[in-house]
Amino acid sequence: MALVTTKEMFRKAYEGGYAIGAFNINNMEIIQAITEAAQETQSPVILQVSAGARKYAKHAYLMALAKAAVEDSGIDFALHLDHGADFDICKSCIDGGFTSVMIDGSHHSFEDNIAVTRKVVEYAHAHGVVVEGELGRLAGIEDDVKVSAEDSSYTRPEEVEEFVTRTGVDSLAIAIGTSHGAYKFKPEQCKRNEDGVLVPPPLRFDILEEVARRLPGFPIVLHGASSVPQEFVKEINSLGGQLPDAVGIPEDQLRQAARMAVCKINIDSDIRLAMTAGIRRVLSGNPAAFDPREYLKVGREEVKKMVAHKIVDVLGSNGTL
Ligand code: G3H
Ligand code: 13P
Ligand code: ZN
Repeated sequence: MALVTTKEMFRKAYEGGYAIGAFNINNMEIIQAITEAAQETQSPVILQVSAGARKYAKHAYLMALAKAAVEDSGIDFALHLDHGADFDICKSCIDGGFTSVMIDGSHHSFEDNIAVTRKVVEYAHAHGVVVEGELGRLAGIEDDVKVSAEDSSYTRPEEVEEFVTRTGVDSLAIAIGTSHGAYKFKPEQCKRNEDGVLVPPPLRFDILEEVARRLPGFPIVLHGASSVPQEFVKEINSLGGQLPDAVGIPEDQLRQAARMAVCKINIDSDIRLAMTAGIRRVLSGNPAAFDPREYLKVGREEVKKMVAHKIVDVLGSNGTL
């Protein structure tokens, strides 16, 4: 068993009408939760690391933990750089043992995006590593970059063939209305259901369809795909948290995307919410608790349950190992 690229995972996912979950890792408990859920559901998963995660936990620790998860679970995982901002961070992760990198040139002009993506692809492919590029710009927050709804833009399907051909990328992230973070939409962009919960505007499946028509068989990636489960939001808020009007992407829409050309679905915010709900529950129920294992154990269990649910009910990747 080993850290592997996403090539084979995506080929099978495309053919099978399901998607692979790409879950962000930041510490040991999160890695254990994801990989134990993967093992119990017999599902492939991608462990992904942002620049912020590398800063928080350090490359060497995350690398060693990912390898430990392979050994402990007996499953192959892909280890992926999330939102690589430039060639240097991609090179550092490729040299440091990652099997997949994202070069996020979506903030550049089309030509500059192609140039930096092409450079990363050349280096990555020479080292047996696969590359995800991005076209279109999601709203929301990633690392220190905050993209306002006005500055976000849907992917233009007429650009995707040229981008993929000229860069040689292995997968492509597109913008069809998802958004990063736990506040994906402003209340005024949404409707409210009978419980007063915000209902966001639907994803642009027409764009996804057109992209898939132009790139047959090519793996598409959805970022900003947390559903922001309201049970976590309610529990956190009832225990002293303040997450007013947090809203995500409805899971039935993600399931639909997974049946189409989307082979990779990124989830980070839901991990943060599950962990926070579990930890708040322990600390508020037992104010004398001060052993980190006591509350981290419950946080880890919540993340594991949430990841297993995504695998089975949203991604459809269970039992495909
Ligand atoms: O897309 C962004 C991910 O949620 C990573 O977030 O940069 O705060 O680690 P982070
Ligand atoms: P969420 O904030 O919706 O979890 O998105 C995570 C992501 O896209 C990581 O790249
Ligand atoms: Zn992202």
